[in-house]
Amino acid sequence: MQDASFATPALPPGPRLPRAVQSVIWYRRAQWLMDQCRARFGDMFTLKIANEGDWVLTADPDTIKQVFTGDPRLLHAGEANRILLPVLGPDSVLLLDDAPHLRQRKLMLPAFHGERMQRYGALMADVAASEIERWPIGQPYPLRPRMQAMTLEIVLRAVFGVSEGARMEELRGELRRLLDVVTDPLRGIALLALGPERITRVPSFRRELERVNGPIYAEIADRRTAADLTERDDIMSLLLQATHEDGSPMSDSELRDELVTLLIAGHETTANALAWAVERLCRHPERMGRLTEEVRAGESTYLQATIQETLRLRPVISIVLRRLQEPMELGGRLLPAGASIVPSIHLVHRRPDIYPEPNEFRPERFIESEGGRAPGTYTWIPFGGGIRRCLGAAFAQFEMEVVLRELVLRRTLAPSRPESERVYRRAITETPRRDAEVLVGRCPVTAAVASTDALTTAAMVPAEPEATPA
Ligand code: HEM
Repeated sequence: MQDASFATPALPPGPRLPRAVQSVIWYRRAQWLMDQCRARFGDMFTLKIANEGDWVLTADPDTIKQVFTGDPRLLHAGEANRILLPVLGPDSVLLLDDAPHLRQRKLMLPAFHGERMQRYGALMADVAASEIERWPIGQPYPLRPRMQAMTLEIVLRAVFGVSEGARMEELRGELRRLLDVVTDPLRGIALLALGPERITRVPSFRRELERVNGPIYAEIADRRTAADLTERDDIMSLLLQATHEDGSPMSDSELRDELVTLLIAGHETTANALAWAVERLCRHPERMGRLTEEVRAGESTYLQATIQETLRLRPVISIVLRRLQEPMELGGRLLPAGASIVPSIHLVHRRPDIYPEPNEFRPERFIESEGGRAPGTYTWIPFGGGIRRCLGAAFAQFEMEVVLRELVLRRTLAPSRPESERVYRRAITETPRRDAEVLVGRCPVTAAVASTDALTTAAMVPAEPEATPA
């Protein structure tokens, strides 16, 4: 029998608070709001967010599967990511939909293929080691900013293939400043209120952007004519050599938008994930002990499970969005065109039927030989899914492996305070409230730092489900 809700499109229930109030609560305490709504309304509910229309959140794996395998022409992610427009630019792969998205994604995919990541192993280990060696011993020290410096350096080197020189120095500084601007809570609320189109017309914002664009356009111009372009294997050089189906190369502004997308999408997220790994491990010394022991023995199973569990329990991005282009049946309801269907990473990761005692930090749950289960495509979704799944998922997981490995081989870590750090919203990422503050100690055992080549990403990076539009 067909449910009456199929007759006319309708939104599931949700809080009755005014849109402006829901938006502010969302902006400050998204995970709390999702928990409250789920307890009250069940697996599917509606939130009303300023400038974003209606969001239908779902915590149901079957509905999430429907979303990730659904027709991308009807489920627009680019349109739903519009809030990122002012910084990333109109040609960013994150903001495009339909054929232009596929075209751009196709050009970028080869640079992020799982096995290519191995090539970045040495540079990741180098950056991590020199950063870690500088950390002060025995005093409360917040690691998130250091993780951010480290991941910015890594992605800059991987993307541009160079790290030195006045131009890179300028770019490094300008990117940091721009990030401070966009993650500033007051400016975030202004962005929500003004909307992405209007904020790009604010003169002070335009000036900030131009300061980042200058060194990027200069590097693009030089690199286009570089004699060694075809021998280089950094991401920028690969993108410069890539061509669209009609044989045309990427334009300067396309390249600028993709490079900024990679730099921004690629470092803040990974830095927060690393900060959470440290925050959780410090509060679970027995797990930190096991990790250290296994890493010293040259094994990586527990390391990979620790990363998976960190990204489950503390996903740095709480939701992904798809805007409906037509009324669509999802999760047994006919939803109206114009609404967004929003798989909640946070809520699906806390389902007790999939993750018993979901609030516990327990990497073993992902180790099959210990009764655990490999991450499920629709139940472990820190990188989203389907045709929009994070392009840098393999890069990020490999980077986390390399950095954590260097860390436990070189230093001991203890929490500066016993209580767990609260989840704190910085723009669109969820970070530890006290920035993963720790006490760093020297390792009692001087471990031989085994070669990074010993690590394998293949086992932990799920094959990318590259669904093509129906
Ligand atoms: C732990 C680190 C990271 C997390 C948690 C993360 C998470 C995500 C999520 C949730 C999405 C949206 C997926 C969807 O809509 O289904 C995404 C997209 C994307 N990410 Fe990441 N990301 C991380 C690291 C990276 C890195 C290192 C890079 C590049 C160097 C990167 C580049 C991208 C790009 C280009 C997209 C857009 C893909 C598309 O629209 O086709 N990310 N990421």
